[in-house]
Amino acid sequence: MFARVRRGSVLQLAGIAVVAAVIASLIAYFVPWLPKPAGREADRIHFVYWFTTIICIAVFSVVAAALTYSVIHFRARPDDDSDGPPIHGHTTLEIVWTAIPAILVTAISIVSAIVLAENSKAGANPLVVKVLAQQFTWQFTYPNGKTYGYLTLPKGRHVKLDITSREGDVIHSFWVPELSQKQDAVPGQHNFLVVTPTRTGTFPVICTELCGLGHALMRSHVTIIGAAAFDKWVKGGGQAAAVPPGLAVFEDPQNGCGGCHTLKAAHATGTIGPDLDNVKADAAKAGRGSLAAYIHESIVSPGAYIVPGFTNAMPPGFGTRIPPDKLKQLVQYLEQNAK
Ligand code: CUA
Repeated sequence: MFARVRRGSVLQLAGIAVVAAVIASLIAYFVPWLPKPAGREADRIHFVYWFTTIICIAVFSVVAAALTYSVIHFRARPDDDSDGPPIHGHTTLEIVWTAIPAILVTAISIVSAIVLAENSKAGANPLVVKVLAQQFTWQFTYPNGKTYGYLTLPKGRHVKLDITSREGDVIHSFWVPELSQKQDAVPGQHNFLVVTPTRTGTFPVICTELCGLGHALMRSHVTIIGAAAFDKWVKGGGQAAAVPPGLAVFEDPQNGCGGCHTLKAAHATGTIGPDLDNVKADAAKAGRGSLAAYIHESIVSPGAYIVPGFTNAMPPGFGTRIPPDKLKQLVQYLEQNAK
């Protein structure tokens, strides 16, 4: 009789644990928590993430099973005012529930330590790029002395980023979500970050340390190209493939348009402000003159008309900050790319 009850309980506990594990696994797997990695270091960090997540799911399902089972079987009846049974601990149980977490946490520490050590190895001949942060821009200087407002990296080669902030400036932090790592940019100090790109594409460079009014706009981008294309890029004086002047204004970190707006032509994916691929439809709805006039007004006095569903979040002052000729190029560029 006793054995049959015990087996029933174990089966119930196991059943609840499996259901909890399946639900947690589905949430872990199908919600896109992390961007698709674009670097070897990011791959390793994602491995640690999944290693830890699997352990968490296992612990969660055991706890959820014990909890649910107890709530169902041991709850007090509405008319039961008696005290619970006096319990004085269970040494074996306590040793087990201390030892298992200790082993798991140690395993996570060891895996993390190995990944940290691997991720700081730059190999014998890394490409060293100096990264200079200041309110509110990024500058990237290559071994040939050339400096750019955006980063270009070769796929498959170790890159060592030598990160600092301008003397007298504040602390910033370098982050490319697809490369998974963050590194502080501190005035008077050089911090290093090793990245080994594994796929081509353009990804955002984000300042991830609150650094002042322009923090949210302190963005640039990294373009990862093939090793041969990179050599050609360096030999050709490091010019990006003929950027339209308006795109250069759009991407100028001083303006940081892509931080808040989506524009497919510029690989911008911001969602704080209206999607600029829809600017034609928005202009038609606004009814405030020609498309160019609407775009111009929206840049110089963003509060004049708010696209439904958005707030008056765009900083004023772009009208004075962007010189008139550049502003004209930007308006033209946005007009041309409106669908
Ligand atoms: Cu620089 Cu935030």
